[in-house]
Amino acid sequence: MKIPAAIVLAISATANGFTSSSPTVSRSALFGAGNTDPVDPTMNGIDDNLGYEAFDPTAGDSPAVARNNNGGVWVKQRARPRRNRKSAGVRAMVRENIVTPANFIYPLFIHNEDHNTDIVSMPGCQRHCAESMLKEIGEALELGVKTFVLFPKVEDELKTNLACEAYNPEGIVHRSIRMIKEKYPEAIVCTDVALDPYSDQGHDGVVENGVILNDITVNQLCKQAVSQAKAGADIVAPSDMQDGRVKAIRDALDSEGFTNVSILSYTAKYASAYYGPFRDALDSHPGFGDKKTYQQDPANGREALIEAALDAEEGADMLMVKPGMPYLDIIRRLKDASDLPIAAYHVSGEYSMLKAAVEKGWLDEKDVVLETLTCFKRAGADIILTYYAKQAAQWIKEDGLY
Ligand code: PBG
Repeated sequence: MKIPAAIVLAISATANGFTSSSPTVSRSALFGAGNTDPVDPTMNGIDDNLGYEAFDPTAGDSPAVARNNNGGVWVKQRARPRRNRKSAGVRAMVRENIVTPANFIYPLFIHNEDHNTDIVSMPGCQRHCAESMLKEIGEALELGVKTFVLFPKVEDELKTNLACEAYNPEGIVHRSIRMIKEKYPEAIVCTDVALDPYSDQGHDGVVENGVILNDITVNQLCKQAVSQAKAGADIVAPSDMQDGRVKAIRDALDSEGFTNVSILSYTAKYASAYYGPFRDALDSHPGFGDKKTYQQDPANGREALIEAALDAEEGADMLMVKPGMPYLDIIRRLKDASDLPIAAYHVSGEYSMLKAAVEKGWLDEKDVVLETLTCFKRAGADIILTYYAKQAAQWIKEDGLY
């Protein structure tokens, strides 16, 4: 190609020419945006003036590269997967997985204040006051996001070991559900069933001498789930990881007449370090120890299948894997093992990692987020809980289904 004179000058002014990146001349200005001289398909003679003997893949008794009827070099390859990638139209035609806003569940942090508060470790996320929560839901609904899950930050003085505030019909979650249902009856409201936001011990269950009591906790969770159903929840999502809770909650809901309220079970919820920013958001870090006696060991995969079988038998309507990105293998294993819908939780730490790299300019936010969400679907997730739900829906709306 011809290089304009001004650019030649800029190049020759640098000590080592092409390999040096000149601050004033971009690579595409130098080399053109793909506009090259034609390449001779025979490739004959191109190495003649090198001053040394270059290897010729078309020569010898066992040539690596053949020649076609026109003398052009030819890799004798019939199956060429690149044909199905050759244009945006063909790629769209053969695409296996597409994320749509209806696949998302949008988690919202709420608190009992008249203003919003930024969550420092989750840039772009806030704890919402009631008015802002409603506004956020309205905007997300406009973009096709239909389902929301509420996470409350509860005042310290309301926290106790038995976490009775979890089933106060005038509690923040209950009031919020009623407000949402009144303003947006079409919104699907999902609630978290676990005691941690209400626990003065910072655990998902009731504590005695450092032990999280399984059955006592399940007793409280049944009250929490029924109270949320009474307030209008469409889906309750137990995230506590106690044994037998799905069956107990199903029985509790049914016996109170809430046979239509769904259970989205946190089936394979791991004792993960990726929840840190969420615990910042709710001020719900464990008061002592960790959650390893009830949440799953990140080293275990098969164990998730035990949980999945139990949850299905106990009456779960949907099964969740959490966290998401580092646990794509678990999503796939549950998908293969169960015919129930599978959800993936793209958790706070995953969100924060992406945000941090984006803020540094190291990743392109839109591309990396849409790729990540698509990967959840490819792994087998039907449903994706993500703090990016509204933003991703906006991007999808702008671009059409990519
Ligand atoms: C609490 C709960 C947690 C998350 C959802 N529900 C935290 C925990 O188990 O400690 C984490 C979500 C996230 O990190 O985005 N039952």
